[in-house]
Amino acid sequence: MRLEIPTNAERFGANLFYEVQKIYELEGGYGTDSEFDSPFHVIQQIPYERLYEIEKDLAIVIPVKDERLRLLEGVLCGIPHNCLPIVVSNSKNEPIDRYRMERNMVDTFCRHAKKKYIIAHQRSAELARIFKDGGYPQILDDQGLIRHGKAEGMLAGIALAHLAGKKYVGFIDSDNYFPGAVFEYVRIFSAGLSQGKSPYSMVRIQWHSKPKIVDGELFFTKWGRVSRITNQYLNLFLSHYTGYESEVLRTGNAGEHALSMPLALSLDYSTGFSVETHHFVSLMEKFGGVLPSPIPEIMKNGVEVFQIESRNPHFHDAAKGDDHIQEMIEYSLSVLWHSSICPKSLKKDISNELSRLKIVSKKEEPIKLRQYPVLSSLNFTAAAWKIDWQEHGNFSPS
Ligand code: GDP
Ligand code: CO
Repeated sequence: MRLEIPTNAERFGANLFYEVQKIYELEGGYGTDSEFDSPFHVIQQIPYERLYEIEKDLAIVIPVKDERLRLLEGVLCGIPHNCLPIVVSNSKNEPIDRYRMERNMVDTFCRHAKKKYIIAHQRSAELARIFKDGGYPQILDDQGLIRHGKAEGMLAGIALAHLAGKKYVGFIDSDNYFPGAVFEYVRIFSAGLSQGKSPYSMVRIQWHSKPKIVDGELFFTKWGRVSRITNQYLNLFLSHYTGYESEVLRTGNAGEHALSMPLALSLDYSTGFSVETHHFVSLMEKFGGVLPSPIPEIMKNGVEVFQIESRNPHFHDAAKGDDHIQEMIEYSLSVLWHSSICPKSLKKDISNELSRLKIVSKKEEPIKLRQYPVLSSLNFTAAAWKIDWQEHGNFSPS
């Protein structure tokens, strides 16, 4: 890949939030191009071998809930061979067993492609056992199973990736129509992660555009309703502490993102669809220098957050309705409002916004969402011994 060198960044304590990087060439060539020997350039080449080094240690978690099988198959097809796909499904078992259909498709697909993979149902006893045995009961409900929700599926995915020995973990939604876009996302993950100087890094994808039909014509929108609002308030949050107005944060709702494993294990998580916005809240609370950091090691090394703009348009199953959008806005803004370091003035602005959108009345507090502690508090040794990898797809952890 050939892409801009990340130069400008906003610093918040130990966090470096880099400006969005633009891609010049999706494929940057094999070997190092001597044209880049001189120090005076604004573009960098990340040769294929460097991407490969990351991808062999990268798991891609695919959260699924009742998506069309063809879309899920397309997503699998877009994942480079050396990455380990981990499908975490919360699809229905009845009246039609959608999970069985998914599993049959994934089993066959990976057998034909000779691909290693993991597939598990979010509500399975096996997956719950990892958290029970590992002493992380917060994620379990009164039936002893992992709670419903996208974040909960993602947490299970991170745990599986770590148990499989992966050094990086990325996320790609299962409702993507274009395998080519999925392929680009993974390449962005590996290119982004290869830039990290600290062991604690994250890559977030800013979509190039989302195609829509408006008045019978194709129109490429840049910002969704949710991300426009989320990013505005995230930037106000950041600006309050830096003292400089900023627009650096563009990926507050990035479902497509990847983290180095040490960072994935060190963040707090928030339930359901608030998880992506909450990454920033967790980074600012824990490593922003406002509160004492619980992990001095990270304060010393720093955290790098790269934001990279994809070239493919993002085309996903968008028939999920207005309620879903209202809920996403509510969830994203609530995690900002409830942060222990959210400035008073910003709380007021958020409450006004939520009332303007008729989501929460002015007198009410925004919803307080369930939070999960760092995954490093899970005892992975205790969790691992009972896992039969054969049970989770034909995966052998060799
Ligand atoms: P949007 O794209 O942000 O509007 O949200 P989607 O409804 O498309 O959800 C994002 C991804 O998460 C999709 O791949 C869903 O299938 C998946 N998903 C949603 N809810 C859950 C859940 O409870 N568990 C799991 N494992 N995946 C979920
Ligand atoms: Co979607």
